[in-house]
Amino acid sequence: MKILFLADVFGVPGRRAIEGHLAALQERHDADLTIVNGENVADGAGITPKLADRLLSAGADVVTLGNHTYRRSGIAGYLAASERVIRPANAGSEAPGRGLAVVEARNGVRVSVLNLLGQLFLATPVSPWEIVDTLVEEARAAAPVVVVDFHAEATSEKVALASWLDGRVTAVIGTHTHVQTNDARILPSGTAALTDAGMTGPHDSVIGVRSELAIGRMRTRLPVRFEPAEGDVRLEGAVVTCTDGGLAEAIELVRVPA
Ligand SMILES: [Fe+2]
Repeated sequence: MKILFLADVFGVPGRRAIEGHLAALQERHDADLTIVNGENVADGAGITPKLADRLLSAGADVVTLGNHTYRRSGIAGYLAASERVIRPANAGSEAPGRGLAVVEARNGVRVSVLNLLGQLFLATPVSPWEIVDTLVEEARAAAPVVVVDFHAEATSEKVALASWLDGRVTAVIGTHTHVQTNDARILPSGTAALTDAGMTGPHDSVIGVRSELAIGRMRTRLPVRFEPAEGDVRLEGAVVTCTDGGLAEAIELVRVPA
């Protein structure tokens, strides 16, 4: 079976790319399940209930999030009720929502999707290492196929978690940096791994933001209001092929113009 994963959908350009091209991508890759990281869909930071519904309507089976999860009003109540839009499992005991979604793919196989935040260079309430083993046990008990969206800054931490989970989950896909890495691989015990899946959004930018604004903030250290860029919109992510039992067989990058 095939799982299509699309990386961080950024602002209006990213959302339009999903709405305009996801169906064709699903058909091209014969996808049984589609996971979309949506934490930047609201103007580059956060997600609203309306935008979450739009990603689901466009064909996402599960929407994962990250460090910007609670930036927008109304999303906490939405997440508390949603089974398919999930926030990082280590967002803290007071955080509304859930970090694990269990859904049935098109071919009838159950799939667990986990969302976790890295602890390096991010204000992460709970270390992912403290909870990941229990969480993976719960995910495996619920479904044979387990996909982890590890939303983290540091390549070292993402490589380490994928290696730690090798043989226990189907795939560990990194998100958050918006820069796609060229290290898609199958680890020795059968877990597909990719350090970062990239960004679905405007690539003529500094990770989605209009370049002059991002550079201006870095050069002057003065507050600058960020705005999404518009040019060179691409859909980025990965396709994981696995057995119905959850063993990864292949992983290939997705990088297509919108
Ligand atoms: Fe992020």
